[in-house]
Amino acid sequence: MKAVEIKKDVYWVGAIDYNVRNFHGYITPRGTTYNAYLVVDEKTALIDTVKSPFKEELLARIRSVMDPAELDYLIVNHVEMDHSGSSAAVMEAAPEAQVIATGKGMEFLHAHYHGSEEWDIKAVDKGDSLKLGKRSLQFIPSPMLHWPDTMFTYCPEERILFSNDGFGQHIATPQRFHDEVEDRDIIDEAKKYYANILLPFSSLVSKKLAELKDVPVDIVCPSHGVAFRRKEDIEQVVSAYSRWAAGESLDKAVIIYDTMYSSTEKMARAIEDGLIDGGVDTRFYNLRISDWSEIAKEVLDAKAIVVGSATLNNGPLPTVAGFLTYLKSLRPKGKIAAAFGSYGWGGGAVKVITEYLESTGIELVEEPIQTRFVPPEEVLSACWDMGARIAKKIKER
Ligand code: FEO
Repeated sequence: MKAVEIKKDVYWVGAIDYNVRNFHGYITPRGTTYNAYLVVDEKTALIDTVKSPFKEELLARIRSVMDPAELDYLIVNHVEMDHSGSSAAVMEAAPEAQVIATGKGMEFLHAHYHGSEEWDIKAVDKGDSLKLGKRSLQFIPSPMLHWPDTMFTYCPEERILFSNDGFGQHIATPQRFHDEVEDRDIIDEAKKYYANILLPFSSLVSKKLAELKDVPVDIVCPSHGVAFRRKEDIEQVVSAYSRWAAGESLDKAVIIYDTMYSSTEKMARAIEDGLIDGGVDTRFYNLRISDWSEIAKEVLDAKAIVVGSATLNNGPLPTVAGFLTYLKSLRPKGKIAAAFGSYGWGGGAVKVITEYLESTGIELVEEPIQTRFVPPEEVLSACWDMGARIAKKIKER
């Protein structure tokens, strides 16, 4: 396995994980990569490692360039184990190397890797840098993007930003740059990544983008997926991040539901009809069969969500309760919503859905619609009307 030189003496030495399909709940149908980078100068620095099962792959790629024992620095941009998981293997191979991390990173390394007390770890903060020779590395703490320990590393001489999870995409590909990928929508993957990983921290993303606005960057190297080097590709992903972080949304609605004997689904279809007839782009997801991470991506830039469920034991179906719990954790801003559902006797699903949405800070703009057992024509008609009214409200916003 060989390193890939992405710029003179700067190498990608990461790993490609073609088989991962569930990344702590994030569904990854196209796998991912764990990107680590090696900067070779008078001193050498490894920026991030890879998930531990891939440590031999990392070491083999480093070995294709240099003896890992001669590594001078291990830069830990983020301790989450998809990036730091091979740190112990690297330190075993290069016991003299100094580890660089933020203060939180140092604390988290000790909490993850027992024995790391023996490592020479230096905590860095904003403004700190490291001279490697002709090149240097500047450290840019980026707390909560998306962990408290996160930092970006910037090489001013090469104008490369190593942005860790920022600008990442879960996609397994042997290509290293966006411009080499012809048959996959990288920005759509970056959008899914943003929606599921960075959305809760959007205000911090906006601040970080403003902070880095005047930093000259020729290559953005995230820790997952491909890097961006063409000016237009960098502008495209940065501008997409600006829009997502600002909460910009489209005239789009997302219907999210689960159904027991198709009553709730019939209502969902009638609402969908009203939304489409009202001229609004609509997405339609049965939670039983849909990828929650994909739904989160669609919610990211939708103006409205409409959530429905059959009633089970005075509450929504578990898929609906689970998804709403997940959605709340993502803290979407500026959405409008409505609830609908079916029941047989006691009811309760719609009430619980409404409470979830309210506690997520989503504005409910319609009275919920419920039906007892199978929806009669007048209920389906009311559902269509609700869809049409939501479409109007979307267009007014
Ligand atoms: Fe890709 Fe937060 O780790």
